[in-house]
Amino acid sequence: MGLFLSLERSLALMLISLITVCTLSDCYDPLDPNGNITVTFDINQWIPEGYVARVTIQNYYQYRHVDKPGWKLGWTWAKNETILSMAGAFATKQGNCSSFKFQTPPHSCEKSPVIADLMPDALSENMPDGCCHGGLLAAWAINPSKSFSSFEMTIGNLGANPNVQAPINLTLMAPGPGYTCDLIEDTDPTVYPDIGGKRQLQAYRTWKSTCTYSSFIANQAPVCCVSLSTFYNPKITSCPTCSCGCREADKNTVSCIREGYSAPESDSFDNNDIVQCTDHMCPIRIHWHIMTNYVTHWKVKLTISNYNYERNYSNWNVLIQHPGFSQSTTAYSFNSAMLPSFGFSDEVALFWGIEYYNDELLYAEEDKVGAVSTQILLRKDLDSFTLRNGWALPRRIYFNGEDCQMPLPDTFPMLPNVSSSLKPTNPVFLLCIYLTFKRLFT
Ligand SMILES: *[C@@H]1O[C@H](CO)[C@@H](O)[C@H](O)[C@H]1NC(C)=O
Ligand SMILES: *[C@@H]1O[C@H](CO)[C@@H](O)[C@H](O)[C@H]1NC(C)=O
Ligand SMILES: *[C@@H]1O[C@H](CO)[C@@H](O)[C@H](O)[C@H]1NC(C)=O
Ligand SMILES: *[C@@H]1O[C@H](CO)[C@@H](O)[C@H](O)[C@H]1NC(C)=O
Ligand SMILES: *[C@@H]1O[C@H](CO)[C@@H](O)[C@H](O)[C@H]1NC(C)=O
Ligand SMILES: *[C@@H]1O[C@H](CO)[C@@H](O)[C@H](O)[C@H]1NC(C)=O
Repeated sequence: MGLFLSLERSLALMLISLITVCTLSDCYDPLDPNGNITVTFDINQWIPEGYVARVTIQNYYQYRHVDKPGWKLGWTWAKNETILSMAGAFATKQGNCSSFKFQTPPHSCEKSPVIADLMPDALSENMPDGCCHGGLLAAWAINPSKSFSSFEMTIGNLGANPNVQAPINLTLMAPGPGYTCDLIEDTDPTVYPDIGGKRQLQAYRTWKSTCTYSSFIANQAPVCCVSLSTFYNPKITSCPTCSCGCREADKNTVSCIREGYSAPESDSFDNNDIVQCTDHMCPIRIHWHIMTNYVTHWKVKLTISNYNYERNYSNWNVLIQHPGFSQSTTAYSFNSAMLPSFGFSDEVALFWGIEYYNDELLYAEEDKVGAVSTQILLRKDLDSFTLRNGWALPRRIYFNGEDCQMPLPDTFPMLPNVSSSLKPTNPVFLLCIYLTFKRLFT
């Protein structure tokens, strides 16, 4: 009776937490609940019929970066604004400027301009600080100094007594769809340090909007899956079949086309990948191998494999949730950092490549995949460490911020029956794990 009650209770608890996580995952990532990309417009100077503004795009996502081909920022002007000039970025269309006579042609007369970043080699004089990264923004936890981008624009055509208004309908492609931006609102003016921090300058007016990512809106097919193995069992648990799509019936083809985003209204952002044909069809596979069990430590080998034929991943990152990361953790061939776990009982560690060594995950060739790997040494918490019940296997893995498909717990490599003293698997524990992972398949 007691067992039955506790089973029922944990079932109910699991269901409640499942529902919360499922609802939340459509809105934001529970492992990075404060992540966002903030877009700030700082007006720093009034000019006749307009103003000069500095626009800053700041990526506050811990492990979600803006990759090639880079961000594109769009909005709709509230009035008759015209971009007279721009430094550090460019509007993709000049639009109809035919009504501007006898003056330098404006940079863009579009009602809804779209702005893209310049490449680093476009640097010339008068470029604002923090400009020209080819639209790339690093993740906040990895490289805060490269997590923002700035450009300057001079706005005119607002009439003699301008009553300036923030633009509306901000859109951020970073790259492709997935981001939703709030209304642009007036906030406290930005303060800048001057004279080495001894003096503070203040913007005349500051407008802000935050943009948040949802893989549901991005309509992103899963990009990665997880496979597992251990030293104590020869069985290798492969990625779940059809994790990222199903391979065609013809098993002889070597390369398959995997469809990524499907967003017809996006600016022809094509994310179809040519990948090696596998049963999981994922462009990325992450393998967790439990290598060694020492007295005070245990060791894992982590391998990230790229099954794309044409795509390298620069500045890749992998996020892993595992209770073992609460103890001292050393990754030999990757950079690593612990992240706040926001009330989850299992710790979260972020891994990324070492510059000029393995920060580029190369594409696959013929029958060989591109891969990077590291060994990770973890200290044991002797109270919780166990090889039983799949405890030493990861709970959740993300690649570049996207949730990876985990195998089901009933396929995990199990400890062999060395002695009859080994307790049988606790059914409640298995059920809980099963429910947690089931979420990933819905
Ligand atoms: C955006 O992220 C920053 C940094 O995490 C945070 O301070 C700010 O409150 C966030 N904004 C919103 C609207 O969530
Ligand atoms: C925009 O310009 C047109 C023509 O110059 C003018 O009629 C109109 O009132 C202006 N609109 C605003 C919102 O200022
Ligand atoms: C361009 O703008 C002018 C003046 O606003 C207008 O007369 C003309 O029809 C526009 N041309 C096009 C192609 O829209
Ligand atoms: C802003 O976006 C909304 C929703 O897409 C649209 O209905 C509205 O017309 C847009 N406003 C302007 C001025 O473009
Ligand atoms: C991937 O990286 C390799 C080696 O740096 C380079 O030769 C190749 O052109 C890159 N491929 C793509 C698609 O960027
Ligand atoms: C382990 O023991 C259980 C129960 O005694 C048995 O059902 C199972 O087949 C055994 N597994 C292996 C791998 O020997």
